[in-house]
Amino acid sequence: MQNPILIGFMGAGKTTVGRALSKALNQPFQDLDQVIEATLKQSIPSYFEANGEAAFRQVEKELLAQHLSTENVLATGGGTACQIANQELLLKSRRPVIWLKASDATTIHNLSGEDWQKRPILANKSAQDVTNLKANREHFYRKTADMIIQVDQKTPEAIAEEIIQRIS
Ligand code: S3P
Repeated sequence: MQNPILIGFMGAGKTTVGRALSKALNQPFQDLDQVIEATLKQSIPSYFEANGEAAFRQVEKELLAQHLSTENVLATGGGTACQIANQELLLKSRRPVIWLKASDATTIHNLSGEDWQKRPILANKSAQDVTNLKANREHFYRKTADMIIQVDQKTPEAIAEEIIQRIS
């Protein structure tokens, strides 16, 4: 079995679930945002501020391409699956692509506080803006995913178990 790739909107729990999944599968874990920050030697917000979103998307695409060939459980960023070139890369990888789908309420709840500030896409955005952006992105996730997992009110471990059952 190929290790899964997690996609979905910010705050869905891709990193936390990815960690739980890698532990349950006894496979290494990689988080694309962390790979990006380690490669750039800079945080994503500061890279965004200095270079803008288009430059970030370019780096994200290159690093996604490089890390698709590795056999890790991979958590992507919230915008990764929304880029056409990345969708093609994900499809070509033939790895199971899992969309972690959260309700608006769970998303806003998970993003409130510090996490809001850590995400440049959310800067100066209201909860309604975030809900609108999430709605606008859903068709990208739907198009790219092999499987949808609803995450509301579930622990990362329970979600990981559900993914394992459905992909095996
Ligand atoms: C982004 C989501 C972030 C990160 C970057 C852009 C987005 O990842 O890649 O800030 O466009 O949704 P998370 O989903 O892990 O927050």
